[in-house]
Amino acid sequence: MFDINKIRKDFPILERKITDGNKLIYFDNAATSQKPKVVIDSLVKYYENYNANIHRGVHKMAEEATCAYEEVRQKVKSFIGARNEDEVIFTRNTTESLNLLAYSLGELFVNEGDEILLSEMEHHSNIIPWYILRSRKKIKVKFIPITDNYELDYKSLEQLVTKKTKIISLTHKSNVLGTVNNIKKIAQIAKANGAVFIVDAAQSAPHLSVDFQDLGCDFLVFSSHKMCGPTGVGVLVGRREYLEKMPPFLGGGEMIRKVTFEDFTTNDLPWKFEAGTPNIADVIAFGVAIDYLQNIGLENIYKYECELTEYALDKLKQFDFLKIYGAKDCNKRAGIITFSNPVVHPHDIATIVDQYGIAIRAGHHCAQPLMKKLNVSATARASFYFYNTKEEIDLFVYALKKAFDYFAIGACNELIKGKINAKQNATTTR
Ligand SMILES: Cc1ncc(COP(=O)(O)O)c(C=O)c1O
Repeated sequence: MFDINKIRKDFPILERKITDGNKLIYFDNAATSQKPKVVIDSLVKYYENYNANIHRGVHKMAEEATCAYEEVRQKVKSFIGARNEDEVIFTRNTTESLNLLAYSLGELFVNEGDEILLSEMEHHSNIIPWYILRSRKKIKVKFIPITDNYELDYKSLEQLVTKKTKIISLTHKSNVLGTVNNIKKIAQIAKANGAVFIVDAAQSAPHLSVDFQDLGCDFLVFSSHKMCGPTGVGVLVGRREYLEKMPPFLGGGEMIRKVTFEDFTTNDLPWKFEAGTPNIADVIAFGVAIDYLQNIGLENIYKYECELTEYALDKLKQFDFLKIYGAKDCNKRAGIITFSNPVVHPHDIATIVDQYGIAIRAGHHCAQPLMKKLNVSATARASFYFYNTKEEIDLFVYALKKAFDYFAIGACNELIKGKINAKQNATTTR
């Protein structure tokens, strides 16, 4: 049963007063999520009871810590529908997972003249690693356009994929538009063209039921901190066929089998890609976060967030001077509302609503190419999670109204509209 009052009690931070006694309203969940007490407690429990390095020690605590760490791999495997636990690799975050792939898969699989296909709605962490690869190998990076309805242009995608396309790397859900891409369909296109398909699930894994095998992609990456877990833990799920052949990304302890004065051999999967002491405490706490999310149910989370999004979009209609980005159909988008207005800078909006205790994001959202496509330098973004409420949205709308009144934005926009209309009338009567 989805009991919002009970859920909210699990998050101590939601009791925090921010400004003038206003309780925190946290609408910056696309940046990072809040953490339930069970996750916070598990960190303390680890450090107070069984803090030890893993895999190497034979003492009791080392065994306990190793067991707890490896159990999380098992949990991630079933959470994300991976085939085997040795195909689940822990990294620091989505960004590191994507860098690992661009480097290692790039070394194995990409040659001069090849092409990498991304989309116009990618986060920088799914662009820069490929630009870095491009600077090592003479390859092209191409971008699938988005449509006027802020969806991926699937027709263009089919035209852009050629025999030269070695890797297609796309976001599952856009951190700016909220658009959810049809990964299954793209996986078929990738397969038919012999391209490796990578899915950036940083924004989807926390909010919808994501099944690696069902989606049919080759690699899938996401971050713990956006899904109630701690920072400093990322996941890379992949197919052994590639992982076994890929060269290691980082070298050092843990990732080796044998080292001599001449050379080294690599460890088995997944440790081949987990060099050095991993983030033991945070991985263990991430396991607690996964249990927590699964208890609530990802289907329930998605359904509730869609309800919140629909409610907020409806309320925002009263500000007809706002440009709201993202698919009109709530089934094709989720949990994220990005908006702008030419009169007031998004930073000013975010600063004013902050006075009411409301945390939203303003800026380019690590998606500067997408901002260029949208013809803005920045936008404001409210992003929801399952602990948010309709009452919080009402307060947000109230605070927005105050902000717009402060900037006399309604009046300014009427003026702008008036000028545009006058200009249009002048040109049509000429
Ligand atoms: C779609 C998407 N990809 C990748 C990332 C990068 O995630 P991280 O900062 O955890 O590496 C983000 C972060 O906001 C994101 O929204």
